[in-house]
Amino acid sequence: MSATPAAVIVLAAGDGTRMRSQTSKMLHKIAGRTLVAHAVHAAVGTHAPYIAVTVRAHRDAVAAEVLATFPEAVIADQDDIPGTGRAAECGLAALPADLTGTVIVTYGDTPLLSAETLVSLTEQHEATANAITVLTTHLADPAGYGRILRDADGSVTGIIEDKDARAAQAAGGPLAHAVEITEINSGIYAFSVDILRELLPQVGTDNNQREKYLTDVLALARGNGGRVEALVIDDTPQILGVNDKSQLAQLGKELNERLVKKLMVEQGAIVIDPATTWVDAEVTVGADTVIHPGCQLLGATSIGVECTIGPDTTLKDTEVDDGASVVRTHAELAVIGPQATVGPFSYLRPGTTLGARGKIGGFVETKNAQIGDDAKVPHLTYCGDATIGEGANIGAGTIFANYDGVTKNHTNVGRYSFVGSNSVIVAPGSIADGTYVAAGSAVTAPVGPGELAVTRARQRNVEGWVARRRAGTATDAAAQAAVAQGLAAARQGLEESTPSASAATEENA
Ligand code: UD1
Ligand code: CA
Repeated sequence: MSATPAAVIVLAAGDGTRMRSQTSKMLHKIAGRTLVAHAVHAAVGTHAPYIAVTVRAHRDAVAAEVLATFPEAVIADQDDIPGTGRAAECGLAALPADLTGTVIVTYGDTPLLSAETLVSLTEQHEATANAITVLTTHLADPAGYGRILRDADGSVTGIIEDKDARAAQAAGGPLAHAVEITEINSGIYAFSVDILRELLPQVGTDNNQREKYLTDVLALARGNGGRVEALVIDDTPQILGVNDKSQLAQLGKELNERLVKKLMVEQGAIVIDPATTWVDAEVTVGADTVIHPGCQLLGATSIGVECTIGPDTTLKDTEVDDGASVVRTHAELAVIGPQATVGPFSYLRPGTTLGARGKIGGFVETKNAQIGDDAKVPHLTYCGDATIGEGANIGAGTIFANYDGVTKNHTNVGRYSFVGSNSVIVAPGSIADGTYVAAGSAVTAPVGPGELAVTRARQRNVEGWVARRRAGTATDAAAQAAVAQGLAAARQGLEESTPSASAATEENA
């Protein structure tokens, strides 16, 4: 049986003060996805018909992010009574009044939790007819978490919050030992909806933080004769919460390790150094593609099979087709065709597309540039707002001057055209198929098919200039030596071309 809960309530209304941030805790990201979006993804993965998210702090921003992630989510506003208990109550109030079955409560700040774990929790809850099933784990350092209280026969009797456990320790008495309990509350539960509806209004605020604790529902359910059990999991990172920025970084690293492992195990990527490879949640990499150290694959980046990526490459929302090679490159919103090569040291800005077997070489910047199949932009070029035809070759140091100070203009370079090195093409430029542009030209007028465009001045050499104007310099000395050497060589050449003379020399030797 694969159980589906009737609803999932995600609590995301807290202030998140421990983050010390102007931004809502829910909107901080790991693996390119906000914390609340991770939580919503897990909830959606259970296929529950209703997903409610309780919001309050940074209300509009968090609600917008929730709806951007899952448009059918129900946004539930929490009022000014604080605490996870009140948050769950407000979430429940936003769901249909006649809802029956199992309600899962999860947190917006627990980003590694998987849908599978929520389904297991639902399964155990429904198989045992519990009132409440709580997800727990054992932590070597349980500080900060609510501790699970069990009685002599091991059954769960309640939860004591960290601050209350500390207070109990200071005061002595029956719960003085609670701080040492290593089984902690994940804050994730399966409730039978009737029990939640009945007991939440009974929860008070008599505790260290003057809040309505959801955890108090456990003891209340026990008091009513309901059964409370725990589902203990070994995979603790799944239930770790983010309360501050150090935990954000820790869980970010943990999630990254999991995502990189998935790329290797499930997709067949070859990752040379998982520790320096960072991938976002939605990235895909094809089989036998090698990811060298120091790469960041971000956003909706997708990479085909048998590619070479890196070292030290950042790709954001970029598509790389099969067999391409992208070395020491930064690319964003670019498409790199099959068998194409890019880098080292290039910058592909949004709107760059490179055709099959095309080349963007070293120290090239491109933007809104469609570069055709087999076309090459090999060295030191700025190529912005341009369409370059199949098989064209753009010489070293070419600049597409796309900006006239007011507007950006487009340039076309036709198929199999050849632009000589160090040219500047002033946009809007029109260079037809099958043309040549001479090296060092500044092209300001259209070039027709089969034409050679030359815009530079013809070369003129002024004889004896160095001797007259730079006499006595090292340059002058070098010129004189070269002239003397030239004369000597010319003389020797003359001698060698006289066979009888040279033969005579050899015989005499
Ligand atoms: C909570 C649990 C604790 C558990 C820990 C696990 C309670 C009382 N404590 O403590 O037992 O070990 O989680 O991570 O439940 N929230 C609201 N409205 C509020 C307060 C909080 O929606 O008024 C939301 C927060 O946005 C957050 C979640 O509930 O997503 C947890 O709140 P937080 O303050 O972080 O609880 P913890 O102190 O971590
Ligand atoms: Ca928390």
